[in-house]
Amino acid sequence: MASITIRNLDDEVKDLLRKLAAENDRSMEEQARVMIRAAVEGQLGPSGRIDQIERTLRELTSARSPAAPVAGMGKIPRGLSGKRILLIIGGGIAAYKALDLIRRLRERGAAVRVVMTSAAQEFVTTLSVGALSADHVFTDLFDRNDEHDVGHIRLSREADLLVVVPATADLMAKLANGHANDLASTVLLATDKPVLMAPAMNPRMWSHPATRRNRAILGKDGIAFIGPAKGEMAESNEAGEGRMAEPLEIVAAIEALLDTRPKPLAGRRIIVTSGPTHEPIDPVRYIANRSSGKQGHAIAAALARLGADVRLVSGPVNIADPAGVTTVHVETAAEMKEAVEQLLPADAGVFVAAVADWRTATAAGEKIKKVAGEGPPALQMIENPDILAGVGHHKQRPGLVVGFAAETQDLVSNAEAKLRKKGADFIVANDVSHESGVGPSGVMGGDRNKVRIVSKTGVEEWPEMDKDEVAAGLAALIAERLKTIVV
Ligand SMILES: Cc1cc2nc3c(=O)[nH]c(=O)nc-3n(C[C@H](O)[C@H](O)[C@H](O)COP(=O)(O)O)c2cc1C
Repeated sequence: MASITIRNLDDEVKDLLRKLAAENDRSMEEQARVMIRAAVEGQLGPSGRIDQIERTLRELTSARSPAAPVAGMGKIPRGLSGKRILLIIGGGIAAYKALDLIRRLRERGAAVRVVMTSAAQEFVTTLSVGALSADHVFTDLFDRNDEHDVGHIRLSREADLLVVVPATADLMAKLANGHANDLASTVLLATDKPVLMAPAMNPRMWSHPATRRNRAILGKDGIAFIGPAKGEMAESNEAGEGRMAEPLEIVAAIEALLDTRPKPLAGRRIIVTSGPTHEPIDPVRYIANRSSGKQGHAIAAALARLGADVRLVSGPVNIADPAGVTTVHVETAAEMKEAVEQLLPADAGVFVAAVADWRTATAAGEKIKKVAGEGPPALQMIENPDILAGVGHHKQRPGLVVGFAAETQDLVSNAEAKLRKKGADFIVANDVSHESGVGPSGVMGGDRNKVRIVSKTGVEEWPEMDKDEVAAGLAALIAERLKTIVV
């Protein structure tokens, strides 16, 4: 293929080409080739001459408002149309994820204006950020031009929401203590708009008492948080809590914070359980299952979006706590039961967690050693408490009790039996067998689900959907049922 010399183009055209290339995830050469091909094929006009392309580039770019969709993204719902996000990028390794976040926000119709701290510029360049946000990038509190044009007060005034990605330990400490010694911290202190922080740091930094204190202060001050999650860190050989929420999780949290639709679940308190439980065998081994927590967490988030005060009791998972939800972390079935009972009374309970049915009668205090000639240890198993049945028959039973049944065979008859035995109002049954045909990785751990709603009045079969869509459908159903339950 012939090479294209971008260097020879006018600066103005180069700039436009750079923006289009960034928006379309192409190199500038590839973007130019696409434009030339389109021009030659008559899609852009009669001629493939470079001045034609320059004109076309100009027309394309000037027709695009900052909030317009980027090319090739027509199918994405524009749920943030007209919303103005002020993104503050902090100086951490996860800063590179802010680039994807800008793209995701603009795909959804948001205008994104960016402030970068000086540490952030060590990790990503203002050039990339500016190309993706299609706007000037603000970096300096004392820049005369910036202060004259927009200024730190206007940056906040002209936004609907401030988002800090990544929220470093340093930025959290500054805001918790009211420091304002650079543009980012000054804007954060000067704003009366909602603020969302997505922390990202080494697990030891995150668990340090100072960071825990700052997180608690910021929570009390009304700052919303998304994450961090547990998982692999960018640094090699590091894992633990401190990994930043993924860009799409941050987008969902932003959408939830900016959602002004009516809240049919306002004033309702709902308990949700999610994830697996881990039942210890000894200090290093445990019995678990493949539940990822994706469905339970999505339900908690969907209920919160409808205005519910959601208390999520989560087993050990590798995904971020949902925004706008109070999450309690537990390990075992016994801890989950205890946490759920502490949260009663509630208007509804949605029991999504895949609670282990059994645990070992006694967990060994020391690691069980492999002794030559003795064979494997015989584990004596005992039954775990049945959390759903316990709540279904509890004297403080919520008005609405929803259980989940993950089955590999006889889905509906097993769900109907569970409905009767556990005192639930309805059971959401899903086929978790490998033959379920749901998604490439199946229901457990995958992003899709296919459920049936089994109640005393019959069985309703829902089509296969994303777990978020199943969650939205269930939240709407719960809102509908709770309308008829007066507290
Ligand atoms: C390679 C490298 C990676 C870093 N990653 C993080 C991080 O992920 N989270 C964090 O809180 N600080 C991290 N730091 C420390 C911050 O860069 C430092 O505290 C800085 O002052 C934060 O600036 P800010 O307030 O602009 O965010 C890292 C530093 C280096 C050199």
